[in-house]
Amino acid sequence: MRLLRSDTDPVRDKFAAARQELSSALIEREDEIDLVLTALVANEHVLLVGPPGSAKSLLLDSVLSWTGGSKFSILLTKFTTVEEVMGPVSLAALKEDKYLRVTAGKLPEAEFAYLDEVFKASSAILNTLLRMLNERAYDAGDGVARTVPLKLCLAASNEWAAPDTGKELAAIADRFLLRKTVAPIRSQAGRQKLLWTRDHAPRLSTTITPAEVGQARLRALTLPWADDAKDALETVLKELAKEGVQPGDRRQFKTVGVVQAFAYLTGADEVRPEHLEVAQHCLWDDPGEQPQAAARVIARVANPTGMRVTQLLLEVEQMLAAADVRDLADAAKAAAKLAEIDRQLAALKGNGRVDKARGYVKEQLKKLKLASIEAV
Ligand SMILES: Nc1ncnc2c1ncn2[C@@H]1O[C@H](COP(=O)(O)OP(=O)(O)OP(=O)(O)O)[C@@H](O)[C@H]1O
Ligand SMILES: [Mg+2]
Repeated sequence: MRLLRSDTDPVRDKFAAARQELSSALIEREDEIDLVLTALVANEHVLLVGPPGSAKSLLLDSVLSWTGGSKFSILLTKFTTVEEVMGPVSLAALKEDKYLRVTAGKLPEAEFAYLDEVFKASSAILNTLLRMLNERAYDAGDGVARTVPLKLCLAASNEWAAPDTGKELAAIADRFLLRKTVAPIRSQAGRQKLLWTRDHAPRLSTTITPAEVGQARLRALTLPWADDAKDALETVLKELAKEGVQPGDRRQFKTVGVVQAFAYLTGADEVRPEHLEVAQHCLWDDPGEQPQAAARVIARVANPTGMRVTQLLLEVEQMLAAADVRDLADAAKAAAKLAEIDRQLAALKGNGRVDKARGYVKEQLKKLKLASIEAV
């Protein structure tokens, strides 16, 4: 059944264009881009944790500039006041003995929000956020719950909240269904692009409205699950439990919607096992060892293309770092290994990522040959 051909879904085409434009500007950020766009479709929040200068803001700001609608963005510190996030208390209302906030331009009116350094926020702000992120409601102080239009909250931090920092930070971290550690650029070619490109800001040729995001969400929600994909998710959860990784029931349930959103983003018309790739960012609680366990189990059970590409590229980098190209035997061995990796990539079902990876491997092979010819 092919209900959702991309030529009948201009919203999905916009997502595809943004995905491509973001990943051609941002170096080695394909996973993070997929994560954020998936979150947007799934209506779930995202947290990126990584060292300073790892393009977290560049990505999150770009996505926020892509979306229309009302936005709120703030860099939180321990001195940030509740007023700066929620709006000042209304003096006019106070005169009538009512405790209300003037929320114009602040988080309670935002459809899309970006909270930088989220773990630095004060207790009072964290407590308000807990409810807002989960229930999409807040209490202005008069005991009345007001709903907020928040669709997506993006957050960044330089480190995970340490386990001894109390329940509050753990609870906030849990409000983000999609969470990922951002690593510095790994490849030599990536580093060259970083150094010798003056402007890394993505140029997005489209914009997307909240209504279009809503349409994408509805389409994603109607994608059926193939039976083997259902089995794979159940197996992943069982295998993870054996390794002591037991994400809560809410997390497990919501992961289903995230995987559908990711399948939609990749242009599929049903959810297949390989779309479970994105679940590696949902199905764990403790950021220590558990994300690797989730990635390992999902790679084993569902064997997603994206994860195999990442693994193969990692092998290329490790091999190139270890090889001495001036040693002919070494260079020949490295060239054979590159050719073998290219064969493995060629066997994967083609998507943009496979093609990009093959291009990269071929380029490395060419460079390797040139370097060893020069060495003779
Ligand atoms: N992977 C990357 N791709 C493209 N540009 C990058 C990349 N990593 C770093 N840069 C460059 O470094 C700059 C700094 O990145 P950015 O401010 O987004 O980092 P950050 O992760 O938000 O850091 P901080 O934690 O300090 O806020 C970017 O604007 C860009 O020029
Ligand atoms: Mg930043």
